[in-house]
Amino acid sequence: MLPAVRRSPTTVFLDAARRYGEVVYFKIGPRHGYLVTNPADIRHVLQDNARNYRKSPLYDKLRVLLGNGLLTSEGEFWLRQRRIAQPAFHRQRIAALAGVMAGAARDAAAQWATIAPDGRPVDVDEEMMRLTRTVVLRTLLGADLGPFSDTVDDAWRILNQHIAESFWSLGLTDWWPSAKKRRFQAARAVLRGAVEHVIAARRRSPSESADLLSMLMSARDEDTGEAMTDEQLRVEVTTFLLAGQETTSLALTWIWYLLSQHPAAQRRLEDEIDAALGDRPPEYADLVSLPYTRMVIDEALRLYPPAWGFSRQALGDDEVGGFRVPRGWLVFVVPYVLHRLPAFWENPEAFDPQRFSPERIAERPKFIYLPFGAGPRQCIGNQFALIEAQLVVATIAQRYRLHLVPGHTVDPCPLITLRPRFGMPMIVERRT
Ligand code: HEM
Repeated sequence: MLPAVRRSPTTVFLDAARRYGEVVYFKIGPRHGYLVTNPADIRHVLQDNARNYRKSPLYDKLRVLLGNGLLTSEGEFWLRQRRIAQPAFHRQRIAALAGVMAGAARDAAAQWATIAPDGRPVDVDEEMMRLTRTVVLRTLLGADLGPFSDTVDDAWRILNQHIAESFWSLGLTDWWPSAKKRRFQAARAVLRGAVEHVIAARRRSPSESADLLSMLMSARDEDTGEAMTDEQLRVEVTTFLLAGQETTSLALTWIWYLLSQHPAAQRRLEDEIDAALGDRPPEYADLVSLPYTRMVIDEALRLYPPAWGFSRQALGDDEVGGFRVPRGWLVFVVPYVLHRLPAFWENPEAFDPQRFSPERIAERPKFIYLPFGAGPRQCIGNQFALIEAQLVVATIAQRYRLHLVPGHTVDPCPLITLRPRFGMPMIVERRT
């Protein structure tokens, strides 16, 4: 299956699940594995028997870029890092950051005021990337990227592309010297420079605020009393910078695309926002008055889950759905597929935010809607991302309506994350 999976993993997995059912055996290169789509089996692997699984070796490619940090590490070390970071993501603490999130969205929207009248398109995918990066930097790391601000976007695009291409390559291409590889290394140097800039800035002027960066810097090992090494600190800051900006910005990009294709939903969203806020900027307390906005976000994460698929490797023999999982085999959990199975979603290809009304959520089995994963390795930034998305959508939709440039092809491209292959150029119309 390797060539087909490399070409389009989402298509291959979706076809396989539709044709062969709840557990599908795959041989991909030298690796054996199952795609599982039954909620009970997913719960077993991600939660109930999570101790028997590690993140799959496919993550090793990500480790090349990020190092051994919260996203990529395992066991005791992972648990320690997770405990250090967790307090920064308590709901109350995120609530206190809402003003900064909305402020960043306002700043981004203000810049569009000059573009809107002359009908020039903006690259919404790039705009959202910049916005979510600003949010992570201001809220969690209390910093800016200084001289790296302009180069980091290109660098991340190159890194993402390179890792995705080598993801299924079994490591062979990793050893090829090539112009591409040099570009990868240059991009990695930019990212490293940016991260070092953030840490050095904090060391120069320590902050009073108990943000994520100060938690990482002040954490001490319970046994040895030692702080994290500089290298470990760099790894975690890189992890949060990338995990925090990339996925949320893609979620927002797909939301703007879907709204532009569904005018009735767009109008309903605008009506809700106008009624709840009038002209004033949204605050954390307003989120409860924006339920439809949240439903639009949930539905966009269903159709275009930025983390479209992930995988685990069995540490010991196991059984899933009546099939033997020998030690070393992989299990694929693919939200993109789960979110489109007719057994759980009526008319799955259709955009319908009503699927996420409280009554309909209650009717659905758990472990079938997994944009943030599940079990102990569930996304730590889950609430952060949802609150940020609601504030950003409300702030921007209050003032602007975005239209896809006519004739532009939108093609979801499953690299590490689900990106629009040809970007998302949109024309900005001012509402007020
Ligand atoms: C819409 C936005 C987001 C989506 C769709 C998303 C998705 C995910 C998923 C699916 C996982 C689990 C992967 C697995 O089990 O293999 C994950 C883990 C993680 N995410 Fe997110 N994420 C989002 C936003 C964020 C934000 C805002 C942050 C931080 C500011 C973040 C930081 C992390 C970290 C550190 C992990 C690893 C957690 C661990 O293993 O303990 N994510 N994310």
